[in-house]
Amino acid sequence: MKHTIKTITCIGAGYVGGPTMAVIAQKCPEIKVNVVDINPQRIAEWNDTDLDKLPIYEPGLKEVVKEARGRNLFFSTEVEACIREAEMIFISVNTPTKTYGVGKGMAADLKYVELSARQIARIAPEGKIVVEKSTLPVRTAQSIKTILEAEGNGNKFQVLSNPEFLAEGTAITDLHNPDRILIGGDQDEDGLAAIQALVDIYAHWVPREQIITTRLWSSELSKLTANAFLAQRISSINAISALCERTGADVDEIAHAIGADTRIGPKFLRSSVGFGGSCFQKDILNLVYLCRHFNLPEVADYWEGVVKMNDYQKHRFAKQIIDSLFNTVSGKKIAFLGWAFKKDTNDTRESAAIYVAKELLDDLAEIHIYDPKVKKEQIFRDLEYVYSQDPTQSFDPSVLQSLITIHEEPYQALENAHAIAILTEWDEFKTYDWQKIHTRMLKPAFVFDGRNILDASEMKKTGFEYRGIGKG
Ligand code: NAD
Ligand code: UGA
Repeated sequence: MKHTIKTITCIGAGYVGGPTMAVIAQKCPEIKVNVVDINPQRIAEWNDTDLDKLPIYEPGLKEVVKEARGRNLFFSTEVEACIREAEMIFISVNTPTKTYGVGKGMAADLKYVELSARQIARIAPEGKIVVEKSTLPVRTAQSIKTILEAEGNGNKFQVLSNPEFLAEGTAITDLHNPDRILIGGDQDEDGLAAIQALVDIYAHWVPREQIITTRLWSSELSKLTANAFLAQRISSINAISALCERTGADVDEIAHAIGADTRIGPKFLRSSVGFGGSCFQKDILNLVYLCRHFNLPEVADYWEGVVKMNDYQKHRFAKQIIDSLFNTVSGKKIAFLGWAFKKDTNDTRESAAIYVAKELLDDLAEIHIYDPKVKKEQIFRDLEYVYSQDPTQSFDPSVLQSLITIHEEPYQALENAHAIAILTEWDEFKTYDWQKIHTRMLKPAFVFDGRNILDASEMKKTGFEYRGIGKG
């Protein structure tokens, strides 16, 4: 049976749902695309006439939204009406690590996915194609099918897995030119027809040979595997960075040398203060949980090592700051350049900056933060959250208010600082007048470059006590 898709609805207007659907709407003007969310503020921001107020910052996003919004792209809180209207429904809700009960701290919390599936089943007037866009544990499609069958009033649904591989900060380029699109589905006649319907959508702009179709479970597990491999590369190079610092080798030279081997390749070998973002840690922990569930403890331990190495790297960075500042940062002004988990995004989820700040705050540092895109309230929310997760400490918000200052302008944040820590690789940091900054800092003027973005020899010539990552 051939499907004709006239309307798509996406549940979840977040970092994935928003940009992904905006690009589908841009490339498929004959399809109506609804993006719905239960968060009215988020939807209001997506509908704001001032495109600078979109809820997420992504280069190129404004232009895509401007082109399609109101034409065939609509943001709405009318979840039920939009479910009824669409032939194809994407589920793109958040799947955070569970913070309670069975699997706490490891498993993915699928409650929003389950709620979406139940809602679709309950109100869909006829069968639909349901597409998993969220990152999900392998075999989740089975649970979704079970719900749809049990509650779906006898309607026949098809479930597809279509994981998203975009990276934040480059979401629009990644969506316009994906390395591949992955679609998993049942291999019977109905399943293949549903796969074809989704292939036809992507084929509007993605060459057919880059659209990979697989069985459901392979598609679901490919997404977790891709993130685990990517994160593993970072933890591997970060592990080597620690050895570089002890031995006098330079981690960037090593990354260049090994990356020239075409079997290894040059990408994703930038040593750093540690990877952040909403997904790498969450997805690896989820993979570890699955391995334990399927009684594969050796496999679980292997992947858990990637997260442990990342925690070690963040801790090592904070400790180096404290050690270098004569074993205490109490009452000292430490300036943070960057708070987002990477450049060109306002997303701070699991940013290394949060964990480094926590360790320095535990030692009573006075932290002054400047980030070009992150809002003040978000920084306080992040810190309150990280304290709430630490059972060993009772949290006093007034202490946080007295130790943290957020700046709208960088030079003020750096004035009279004992040390500067670079936590995000924003390009603008490279353009600063470092000579001027040096004269305005306390001496010795320490710079801890958690992203290796500054020129070490220039910085040392200017008079800084400069410490990069993995620079022996
Ligand atoms: P997000 O938190 O930015 O967005 C999720 C949205 O879903 C929120 O706005 C929330 O209000 C909404 N939502 C939750 N339950 C709902 C419901 N029942 N009905 C309507 N709306 C509901 O999350 P995100 O970053 O977009 O991630 C979504 C999924 O995509 C996750 O599984 C994530 O692992 C995966 N993913 C994320 C990225 C990324 O770069 N952020 C990349 C690839 C995959
Ligand atoms: C990552 C993957 O790259 C995407 O393919 C995937 O879709 C997404 O996770 C997801 O599933 O959410 P994202 O987290 O947005 O994307 O950004 P990355 O560019 O992967 O960076 C993740 C973290 O690793 C950042 O903190 C970044 O600074 C760090 N990183 C990245 C390094 O420290 N070194 C590198 O060489 C690369």
